[in-house]
Order: sequence, then structure tokens, then C-alpha cells
Amino acid sequence: MDLTCYDDFRRVARRRVPRLAFDYLDGGSGTEAGLVESVAAFERIRLIPESLVNVDQVDTSCELFGHRFAQPFGFAPLGLTGLIWPGTDMLLAKTAVERNIPHILSTAATTTIEDISRASGGHSWFQLYVARDEAVADDIVDRVDQLGVDVLFVTVDVPVPGRRLRDIRNGLKLPLQPSLRLAVDLARRPSWCAALARSGAPRLANLERYADPAATAGQLAAFMATQSSGRLDWAVLERLRKRWPRKLVVKGILSPQVAARSKEMGADGVVVSTHGGRQLNSAIASIDALPAIRAAVGPDFPVLIDSGVRSGEHVAKAIARGADFALMGRLPLMAIGASGGKGLALAVDQVADDLARTLALLGVTSLDQLGPHLVAS
Ligand SMILES: Cc1cc2nc3c(=O)[nH]c(=O)nc-3n(C[C@H](O)[C@H](O)[C@H](O)COP(=O)(O)O)c2cc1C
Repeated sequence: MDLTCYDDFRRVARRRVPRLAFDYLDGGSGTEAGLVESVAAFERIRLIPESLVNVDQVDTSCELFGHRFAQPFGFAPLGLTGLIWPGTDMLLAKTAVERNIPHILSTAATTTIEDISRASGGHSWFQLYVARDEAVADDIVDRVDQLGVDVLFVTVDVPVPGRRLRDIRNGLKLPLQPSLRLAVDLARRPSWCAALARSGAPRLANLERYADPAATAGQLAAFMATQSSGRLDWAVLERLRKRWPRKLVVKGILSPQVAARSKEMGADGVVVSTHGGRQLNSAIASIDALPAIRAAVGPDFPVLIDSGVRSGEHVAKAIARGADFALMGRLPLMAIGASGGKGLALAVDQVADDLARTLALLGVTSLDQLGPHLVAS
């Protein structure tokens, strides 16, 4: 099997997934220096192994928001996943159940939260993009509440979308715009086309019901664009906090002050994130922002991290630097793109194996033994 790591999955996915979809997944904003840095910052960290410890039994299980998970990592929320490979949301949800790791469904997913909740027996969590129209935002929150979803992630780092040059150059829009370039692109990816033909074109399934039912696909896309909100501020977040009865996590934080204020406001956790290098290109890497955020919120407040996590070793570094948990966005999707879905469980198992191996090589047998003392400064 030649799919051994993230770079392998990415290389094969690039061949199998149409260029505009691959670029949508792989790309970042602006010059993409922020995207490169998000991974490079993980790679720069050097660890100090402690030897002469019996590591026959290594335990990577951990607790988060009242659940005991097999691993301290899970699937980050991703919009438009159906573009990478049809059926991706469902595959992520089911694999998360099988492997006992968390999955977070995006507001911009291509499958409804109702379908995902049913299929995963309520295992999946939900990520909210706060719509400009308050009634729409409230209705989404109420739908998710009625399904009994345990944790709501409110994404706060998209006041406006980042400028993603690859998507602009490729003319990425829903519905896909017919062009000679797209036709040539698709002709070279027959298995993707066959999968799409079986499942239908990707759609923003959670949001469709709020648009005019008579709207054309183009009008629907325009309506969705107006729903992204630059108005999300503390007052809106506090209102959501009052409305949502269970765990609320603020996703997309790099500032210690914003993290501390989120905690004061009543959040149950934060996700330190650069949105995978897709928003502010010059943002600090999340792994570099992490120690100050941990210091600001104290030792017991749940801190998750994403952006640049490509291996179990990266997960171990995140925890050693103060995170409780890591999320991965591109890694699972590259695995799906490379294999038409079959590689997802393999990718999860590889990350899990790499994490356990890293712990053993560090001379620790459980996650709570990871800490800054193992990080070379
Ligand atoms: C293709 C793609 C779509 C994304 N869509 C969303 C989304 O709908 N909501 C959200 O909160 N974050 C979204 N993100 C950000 C991810 O949740 C996560 O923060 C990021 O992917 C982590 O970085 P990584 O890809 O390096 O693991 C998206 C990221 C990618 C790559």
C-alpha cells in the first residue's frame, strides 16, 4: 500500500479529484504563506524524549465534553465536502462512530444535519455559521437543538471570506459553471464523475430551505452569499449563548484576550485555528498561538486546536503545548479524495498509530503525561 501519510494521500487525490475541487480543498488565502506556515510551525517544534520507561501499554483515549473518545483527534467541520467526493459527509460521520472519534458537521455541508444525526445515532456535532438574517440563524440553532446535538461550534473567523486566489482563478461557484476547461478537467476524472452522477450535484443542504423554493440554482447561490455575516460580534454571540442550551465552543480564535473573554461569556471551550490558512494569510500559526491562549484560559478549560495537523506526531505536539484535542480538516478529505472513500479509516488508523508510537518514543504512556517539559524551547 503506497498511501502511508498525508503527502501520499494528497498526491493521489490530486490525480483523482477535478482540479477546481482539489484546489478548493488544498488552497489557502492570498499568497498561501499562512497555509504553509501552519504546517511548518508544527514541524519546527522539537521534542525531548525521556527513555527508560516501560511503554508496553500506551493509552491515547481521552475525555471531551462528557464523552470518552478513543483518540484525542477528530474531524473538523468542512463545507462543500460533496465537491471533493460525493457522500463525504456521511462517510465522515459513520467512520467517526466506528473509530469513536468526534465529527463536526458544517452549516455549509452537502448533507443535512437531520440525515447525519439519524445515521450517526446523534454522535455528530454541529458547526454554525451565523447567518445575517437572525430568523435563519435562530431556526438552524433550534433544528440542531431539537435533534439533541451535544455540542455547537460557532465559527467566528469568517467576518468576510478570505481571498482564495485558486478558487477565483478556477471560477469556482455553485452551481458549477460549464466551461471548456471544466469539461476537460472532468473528462480526466471518470471515477469522480461516475460517483457524482450517482449522487447528484453538491448542494448546501442545510440552508436550501431558507431560500425561495422557486429560486434557480444561481439565485440560490446568490442568496447563500448574502447570508454570510460580517455582523457577528459579542452581542450576537451572547444571544446565541442564551439560546443554545448545551455545550458551546467558539471556533477560530488566535488571540488570548478573545479566548479569555469567550470563557467569561460562558463558552465551554475554544478552537485555536487559522481556518486552515484560508482566512487572514498573515495570521500567527495556531500551534504558536496555543501556549498564550492556554495561559489566558487556565489549565482546566477545554482548548482544541486545528490548522496544519497532518500526523499523530502533530497531535502529540499540540497536546504537549497545551491543547486538549486536535481537529483535522484536509487530512481526512485528502484520504477520501485519494481512495474514493476507502482510505478514510486507513488514514485515521495511521494517525492513531503514529500518535501511540510518538508517545512510546517520548517515554510516556498516556496523554496527561505530555507537557511543555518535553518541548525543546
Ligand atoms: C475545504 C475546507 C472547507 C472548510 N469549511 C469550513 C466550514 O464550513 N466551517 C468551518 O468552521 N470551518 C471550515 N473549514 C476550516 C476547518 O474546519 C479547519 O479549521 C481547517 O481545515 C483546519 O486546517 P487543516 O485543513 O490544515 O487541518 C474548512 C476548511 C477546508 C480545507
